[in-house]
Amino acid sequence: MNKIKKAVLPVAGLGTRFLPASKATPKEMLPIIDKPLVQYAVEEAIEIGIEEIIFITSPSKYSIKKHFDFNQVIDNKLRNSGKDMLAELANPNIFGEIDFKYINQDEQKGLGHAILLAKDYIQDEPFAILLPDDLFFSDISCLSQLTSIYKETGNSVIAVNKIDPHNIHKYGVIDPGKVEGNYMEINNIIEKPSRVEAPSDIAVCGRYILNSTIFEFLEKTHADGSDEIQLTDAIKSMLSKEKILAAMYHGEKFDCGSKKGFVEATIAISLRDNDLKDDIKSYIQNINEVNSKDN
Ligand code: UTP
Repeated sequence: MNKIKKAVLPVAGLGTRFLPASKATPKEMLPIIDKPLVQYAVEEAIEIGIEEIIFITSPSKYSIKKHFDFNQVIDNKLRNSGKDMLAELANPNIFGEIDFKYINQDEQKGLGHAILLAKDYIQDEPFAILLPDDLFFSDISCLSQLTSIYKETGNSVIAVNKIDPHNIHKYGVIDPGKVEGNYMEINNIIEKPSRVEAPSDIAVCGRYILNSTIFEFLEKTHADGSDEIQLTDAIKSMLSKEKILAAMYHGEKFDCGSKKGFVEATIAISLRDNDLKDDIKSYIQNINEVNSKDN
């Protein structure tokens, strides 16, 4: 079985839900406490042994490349003043071992269009996709959970989770088939169905391991009503050729593409941080007390 060595991170979206913050700063560079969102995804990819990370980006998102490049000036300054730990934070050694590639998406024609741009780099290997907007926390990372299933079956596998039916119209939703241990077959998948059309309450979340067959189907997928090529539509067509599995994600997940998810992730991570957690807990307690007095 092919080892998964390559990951695609699409980061070219406009991030309109985060305007005006995303006007000059890529949404993916907004930090949860002190680390940009995109770095959490890169670390998750590195943890499963990914060797090459392909960003689908745009010229206005130059700071993403700068973030992963080695910064000699900062390194010299910090090491010369004995701050080696900070130097390692700024330029983690592990980044030096990763082959970072950048492909520009000239027009924001959707996630499917973005992924198709990586075709020549991926060739015929299986590969991972990580949407940096989705932040996952679990002892075994989301991508690692998918990798185990891919290794066991050789089938493409997508992370899914249960969604409140009121929000189902925002997601790609699967029609689940046979359940096999910690994964299930996908019978069908629909992009952003209405609540009535939704075949289940199980929606795709931002981690995938796909066989390169997907490119054949992405090339044939037409843009939808919003002029975007949807990855979900290509996956739906691919189901006619090969089995695709869904793995129910076990762990915490934050949709940091939305303000609510972003704030929740910030609170959750601050409560895990040894330097911050006591102060944040007492701050939250104070707010609760003030609110209960007011009510
Ligand atoms: P989203 O739809 O969540 O991001 O895409 P967006 O379009 O940037 O955000 P809003 O809805 O306007 O606020 C999920 C991921 O896919 C990337 C985004 O950068 C994000 O990481 N993406 C989306 C692309 O790379 N290209 C696209 O054409 C669309």
